[in-house]
Amino acid sequence: MEQIIALDEFAQDTLKGLSSEKKYLFSKYFYDKKGSEIFRDIMRMPEYYLTNCELEIFQTQKEQILSEFKNGGAHFDILELGAGDGLKTKVLLSHFVNRQIDFTYSPIDISGTAVTNLVEDLKDDIPGLQVNGLNGDYFKMLDSFKNNGNPRKIALFLGSNIGNFNDAQTLDFLLKLRNSLNSTDQVFIGFDLKKEENIILKAYNDKAGHTAAFNLNLLVRINRELGADFNIDNFYHHEVYDNLSGRAESFLISNTTQEVHIKMLGMTFPFLRDEKIYTEMSQKYDLQMIENLADKTGFQIVRNYVDKRQYFMNSLWKLKS
Ligand code: AVI
Repeated sequence: MEQIIALDEFAQDTLKGLSSEKKYLFSKYFYDKKGSEIFRDIMRMPEYYLTNCELEIFQTQKEQILSEFKNGGAHFDILELGAGDGLKTKVLLSHFVNRQIDFTYSPIDISGTAVTNLVEDLKDDIPGLQVNGLNGDYFKMLDSFKNNGNPRKIALFLGSNIGNFNDAQTLDFLLKLRNSLNSTDQVFIGFDLKKEENIILKAYNDKAGHTAAFNLNLLVRINRELGADFNIDNFYHHEVYDNLSGRAESFLISNTTQEVHIKMLGMTFPFLRDEKIYTEMSQKYDLQMIENLADKTGFQIVRNYVDKRQYFMNSLWKLKS
């Protein structure tokens, strides 16, 4: 029997997920170096309409967005939670700089390298932008801005990142966000909208296989970091979408009866043929769901922005009075 010494969070979560009756792994572990690279490819592929829709909203409605951010002329700063490579945000930022708005943009990310790279990139791309990269936990960072005499803040959470939380996590996230804001602050959130099943399935199961590689990379990561012996060829990516609930769900399915040993856990996990590992939820919303979320967590919608196909919505919220 191998000895198990102080398991880190990834090892503990893997142990829990693969020991569960219905096996699961958390999607937050997709984003190692390789996973982040594949995700950048996903964002740029035509089937993944989310990027283009949000980009279209920013390109065509940036002036209206600016006017609501200014909220009658008041000064504001922008904080972005999980900024990634800033592909879409840049459209808003460069518009605001061109309009000579005096603001600071603070991207926050738990990955220090992601923040450093983005800051360097922004300095080259948008000369004149005041940028202050912050590395750490979203809420610790937001809390440090609370009551510190700084200008109003607009907190951005784009790309339908919110859709990867389950219901309880979504409420918890929004309530924490609400509590770390001052009374005149606002939040600007990207929500992917419910739509025809086929369009969603194509976005999460593309022909070129980027999404499959993204999902399977989780097993590659477990092999590398936890000393497992997953045979990647023995699993395949599977996507389902339920129109009523708006849930797109990703699975890895075992195509044979097999056992996988994970050295760091000192354990062997049996898989039946066709057994699933649940890996990700990407929630799709309708307006009612968005209004309910805002209402339940102490926010009020200021304005919604949608693309011309009505696939995606950026919703600007203020604190409920
Ligand atoms: C990061 N997140 C919003 C993506 C999504 O659409 O749920 C992650 C993703 N998973 C597969 N494709 C993209």
